[in-house]
Amino acid sequence: MKIWIEDTPETLAAEVAAYIAGYIRRHPGALMCFAAGDTPLQMLARLVQMQAQGEVDLASARYVGLDEWQGIGYETKGSCCQVMRDCFYTPAAIPEERMLLWNGKAEEPQAECARVDAWIERCGGIGLALLGVGMNGHIGFNEPGAPVQPACQVVALDAVTATVGRKYFGGAECPSHGMTIGLPRLLQADEAMLMATGAKKAPVMRKALCEPVSAETPASQLQRHPKLTVCLDRAVWENL
Ligand code: F6R
Repeated sequence: MKIWIEDTPETLAAEVAAYIAGYIRRHPGALMCFAAGDTPLQMLARLVQMQAQGEVDLASARYVGLDEWQGIGYETKGSCCQVMRDCFYTPAAIPEERMLLWNGKAEEPQAECARVDAWIERCGGIGLALLGVGMNGHIGFNEPGAPVQPACQVVALDAVTATVGRKYFGGAECPSHGMTIGLPRLLQADEAMLMATGAKKAPVMRKALCEPVSAETPASQLQRHPKLTVCLDRAVWENL
């Protein structure tokens, strides 16, 4: 595991974007899996800016959504697909055929999971996964203590996820279930990056990095990834 520390969220976003752009240049066609949520937003904006400056061709990669709230779609502000489309796929002009976003409104969620799995298979697995961590240690919607499924899965959301998640929906209640790429699949990615900023993420990052791997802190399972880079701002690092 490598730990990468930058002074501020802004400098961290710029450095992580530069690294990811380099990965995309070195691996044309690779499948990128980016978490939605607040943490990667500046990094995604920086990637779009780098493309505008001719530094990377983002459409040379392929993309898959990490997770989605069940029962909502693009029209709901705060859905993962709305965030990713508006903040990244549209400004980066990624062609539809290069990406797969979860359909949170799929009538058969298991079939939706199979559709996402099939896309990952077709792309030869995930090249680089850029992950965020929930206040309860979740990764994607791999929730604390939930049974670990090898592939994509439907999950009942943890109480902390439901409470914290209100921030994405203007304070309104969150869906009770989500769909996510499972941890084993993420552990098979060629590279994983776990990004966390702000002192409030320090306690959960301490559990993830400094305590033994446990089902109660799904992020700790990333310790098993052979090529993990943990990307922190100084506020997390100094409060670990
Ligand atoms: C979102 C996702 C979640 C978030 C996590 C942190 O697609 O996968 O696991 O990464 O909840 O969210 P923020 O970045 O908003 O603190």
